[in-house]
Amino acid sequence: MATFISHNPEETEALGRKLAERLASGAVVGLTGDLGAGKTRLVQGLARGLGVHGRVQSPTFALVNAHQDGRLPLYHLDLYRLDTLAQILGAGLEEYLAPDGVTVIEWAERWFESGKDTGPTAAPAGYKTIAFEVLDETRRCITYEGFGD
Ligand SMILES: Nc1ncnc2c1ncn2[C@@H]1O[C@H](COP(=O)(O)OP(=O)(O)OP(=O)(O)O)[C@@H](O)[C@H]1O
Ligand SMILES: [Mg+2]
Repeated sequence: MATFISHNPEETEALGRKLAERLASGAVVGLTGDLGAGKTRLVQGLARGLGVHGRVQSPTFALVNAHQDGRLPLYHLDLYRLDTLAQILGAGLEEYLAPDGVTVIEWAERWFESGKDTGPTAAPAGYKTIAFEVLDETRRCITYEGFGD
């Protein structure tokens, strides 16, 4: 586990680029933290680090955005609009827990720490987490686990 204090969006994105170097095919990364904490910004860095060129934005309506032009396929999920575990499972997202590339999940606590519905499902083996805490307008405390430090 490691902690990083980000002072601006660029530092958050740079952390994402750095962490991308440690990802191999099959990795599943869960991002947690409040609205506007910087989850999508970090995913933009991960995508750049994986060599994705296209625009990376939150897949709030689509549920999943797939980016196929990087060193590994990147599947970007956002569970914000799914209120219950039943909805998450009903959306057919389980296949993304064993990806032929990298899966990143915004609002991952809705899946693995739910408590709102029938209870959490088990996170996949090797599951990595990145947790955001908003300290003030521009500072974020980012704690990451499973990346090898
Ligand atoms: N240190 C920082 N790191 C990241 N974003 C920051 C930072 N400081 C300020 N910001 C601002 O916070 C916002 C973060 O937005 P972003 O979409 O990445 O958050 P999010 O966690 O994905 O939110 P949501 O839950 O709505 O998906 C941006 O407007 C960004 O400019
Ligand atoms: Mg987001």
